[in-house]
Amino acid sequence: MRRSITRATTAAVALAATPTAFLAPSIASAQAAPGAGTAAVRVTPADAAKWWHHATIYEIYPRSFQDSNGDGVGDLNGITSRLDYLKSLGLDAIWITPFFKSPNADFGYDVSDYTAIDPQYGTMADWDRLVAEAKKRGIRVLVDLVVNHSSSEHPWFKESRSSRTNPKADWYVWKDGTPDTPPTNWRSIFGGPTWTWDPTRKQWYYHIFLSKQPDLNWRSPGLRKAMFGVVRFWLEHGAAGFRLDATPYLFEDTSWPQDPDPGSEPVWLKPYNAQLPGTNEVLREMRKIVDSYPGDPILLGESSTRSIEQLRAVYGKNKDEIHLPMNFLVGNISKLDAAEFKRRYDEAATKLDGLTPVEFFSNHDQTRQWTEFGDGTNNDLIAKMTAALTLLNPGTALLYYGEEIGMGDMDKAELAKAPLGPNRPQADARDRARTPMQWSAAPQAGFTSGTPWLPVDSRYRTRNVAAQESNKGSLLNWYRDLVKWRNVDPTFRTGRYVPLESGDAGVFAFARENANGTGAIVMANTGTGVVTVKPTGWTGAAPVFGASVCASGKWGGGLTLAAKDTCIVRYRR
Ligand code: NOJ
Repeated sequence: MRRSITRATTAAVALAATPTAFLAPSIASAQAAPGAGTAAVRVTPADAAKWWHHATIYEIYPRSFQDSNGDGVGDLNGITSRLDYLKSLGLDAIWITPFFKSPNADFGYDVSDYTAIDPQYGTMADWDRLVAEAKKRGIRVLVDLVVNHSSSEHPWFKESRSSRTNPKADWYVWKDGTPDTPPTNWRSIFGGPTWTWDPTRKQWYYHIFLSKQPDLNWRSPGLRKAMFGVVRFWLEHGAAGFRLDATPYLFEDTSWPQDPDPGSEPVWLKPYNAQLPGTNEVLREMRKIVDSYPGDPILLGESSTRSIEQLRAVYGKNKDEIHLPMNFLVGNISKLDAAEFKRRYDEAATKLDGLTPVEFFSNHDQTRQWTEFGDGTNNDLIAKMTAALTLLNPGTALLYYGEEIGMGDMDKAELAKAPLGPNRPQADARDRARTPMQWSAAPQAGFTSGTPWLPVDSRYRTRNVAAQESNKGSLLNWYRDLVKWRNVDPTFRTGRYVPLESGDAGVFAFARENANGTGAIVMANTGTGVVTVKPTGWTGAAPVFGASVCASGKWGGGLTLAAKDTCIVRYRR
């Protein structure tokens, strides 16, 4: 699912051949080698910004990252064993998708105990060790909190459905009716009606996802208290905050209007099912709790919106709700389109009242960017381009495991052959983007010594971490360089975003500029030919261009870019 100046001069003041040389000399000399981490030389912005204003957060689908016990399913100990690798990427935090007890109707997004770790992922002691080891490496760990619904196997739901009068009777969304007619004609995000009839209560219950994922009723004080207890539980167990699942859907319009066009897209952002007013209050309450803990824990929101104005609202009118709502307006872009990149990145930089944008292209629900944007010929270059857009824009960047080596979606025919079994009770189209991490050319890509729950993509023999470690020009090392710049170079850390016109319809360009007029222009050529960019959009003195680096490694000087290349050029004014 993706759903989704004055005229510049090109006079060069200096050229640099390698990404490391591209760093300003004072930064380059202080820079640790790739793999050694970058925390020690990070720039501390003058505005005493919080860690999450400039973070790089890496999403791990734990089933598929690293298996430590040979059962074919990745686990917490597997993640711990790969922390040195994660550190070598220069990350600030990892977000682990749900590892709580679950019957796995939606692989963990159907939680049957919010404070217990599912045995297939490990134990509480494994979690504690993961957090402690990550901390030693300067990496925070975010928990994925499924706040909108639980599993129908959760004891809360079992009790709620047992009668109309039990203490948890109002913890879910129940509605009277007759068994033949659901209360509304609304459609669930996974297809079918949003209502399931319960023969015991003789009532309907509401679910915006599967019928095995009944919506929690945030109007119930008892439910609120219990969920806020879960929030405290994980903060007290070392979580650096939460990725909040499906936040737009906490409330419904309880006048229960019929939809004149229930199938119209997107069914997940209707005025009656998304961003209802009560949402803000719950999120403010949650934010207060999170802010009361030390270490600046955060809320990272899965906050689908239709417009930048709606996205702005998710931060809270008084900036006191979600710290980091994901920008799906960029995340849902499905074409390499310079105009769309410009529109979406420019608005994120200029229309969010200076709040931190959260940029990404891939995650466990949608087509990987390698597959989405790749043209079959220039995939590596294009992957370097989308990496540069995510990582050189201001704000916080989300990466999805494996994007740094160019993992793509599994071929549909290959996936169709993947067997079902106890570790994979049902097929899911999204499994294409959830194949095991490709560590090496060893059997099962080094992911497991057993039979993986989902087959490893057959391209792993050549596309894997080990192969790219030793190749200076690899995608993996490009990611490392970009993250390094984010971490240590003021231009990419705190430099303001300057929207530019590139002078060519196929080239997206923007600049990051420091208060003293130095900066860097980032140019991405989405077109099929060589282009000489004539950027405009600066106010004041024309820039004098200098050191540069291109994704292709082929730098010809000036502002000329090969097809699908991305070049970053320093300037001063
Ligand atoms: C969003 C999650 O990212 C997705 O994987 C899940 O299926 C739904 N929410 C339901 O929890």
